[in-house]
Amino acid sequence: MIHNFSAGPAALPDAVVQGLRDDLHGLEDSGIPLLGLSHRDPRFLKQMTQAEQLLRRLLAIPDTFAVLLFPFGATAHFSAVPLNFAGLPDREGGAGRVASVRYHLSGYWSEKAASEAGRYAPVERVAAPFLWPGADGTAAAAAAATPAVVQAPAATAYAHYCPNETIDGIAWPAPPESVGVPLLADASSCLLAGPVDWSRHAGVYASAQKNLGVAGLSVLLVRRDLLGCALPPTPAVFDYAAVAASASLPNTANVFAVRALVRMLAWCEEQGGVDEMARRARQRSALLYSFLDASRLYYSPVPRAVRSMLNVPFRLRRPELTAPCLTAAASAGLQQLAGHRSRGGMRASMYNAMSMEAVERLCDFLSEFEHLHV
Ligand SMILES: Cc1ncc(COP(=O)(O)O)c(C=O)c1O
Repeated sequence: MIHNFSAGPAALPDAVVQGLRDDLHGLEDSGIPLLGLSHRDPRFLKQMTQAEQLLRRLLAIPDTFAVLLFPFGATAHFSAVPLNFAGLPDREGGAGRVASVRYHLSGYWSEKAASEAGRYAPVERVAAPFLWPGADGTAAAAAAATPAVVQAPAATAYAHYCPNETIDGIAWPAPPESVGVPLLADASSCLLAGPVDWSRHAGVYASAQKNLGVAGLSVLLVRRDLLGCALPPTPAVFDYAAVAASASLPNTANVFAVRALVRMLAWCEEQGGVDEMARRARQRSALLYSFLDASRLYYSPVPRAVRSMLNVPFRLRRPELTAPCLTAAASAGLQQLAGHRSRGGMRASMYNAMSMEAVERLCDFLSEFEHLHV
């Protein structure tokens, strides 16, 4: 049996994969294979409605928020977010001009988002001492990278953060309280892994290929009152107000990814919803971290207070054993455990579809490898 620890595209529940296989032959007994179904067909439009309803139910999304779907990943939102929100009126009354935007850096993806935003607006980087690469993280660096309160200067349009850094395995302990500015989150690797505090967020976006199905789709859950301020050069497909006005269908949808989203959301609901997903994530990660913390060979470089429950990077005290460990793991059916190419080491990504049994097998394997080599 294969256990897939990929960071994304990631493991899907077997029931979802089986269902999608059926859909390829004909969506809901229509006889029309999903991949040949028009995105304007009522049977597909039903999928769009179901996706929104399921998301609203699972995450208790308030009516004041719009639910938007896009046929591209979160990287596109690194541009779309500043294009849509850098022109928001700031507290100095600077409506319509490009205000500065504030980016909290806690790892690879928040840094990428900040770099892209710099193409459209002056970016204030809240640069905590970088936790990776280089020295292993310290508790002080972790606390500086994930403050409890975000207090931006008056001439700031919005603040942005990444609650779960997929590559670095760094998670904010809680969403920060943002004083005076709307807070946007790139929740690509943590949406649906637990509840969202809507009182703290103005917008949350995520790529689908972790907990929401397959790549080539993203969702944005955004306060409706923030729509309509896009900067003039914003491409129509990036203009959130225009996308909302077209019910997320300004152009051809990724019909397969939308159906996968519906199946993933329905599966999540059947399993008990996001509170149950959070419970499982706590249980899985507690097992792996306690194993790593007790090991003489492996260690987590991430300070405890900011450890992710979903992406667990770890290193070997004898780095020359990393490649043999990865090879042996793959032969034992434990696949895609390599750390990100920019970070090295190993990483276990454990999203909603990951079973406790897979994590137990991983710990058993790592323990056996340790006994052979240390
Ligand atoms: C937190 C985070 N943001 C953004 C991205 C980029 O997503 P995409 O490649 O779908 O654009 C990823 C991908 O893994 C991610 O984990």
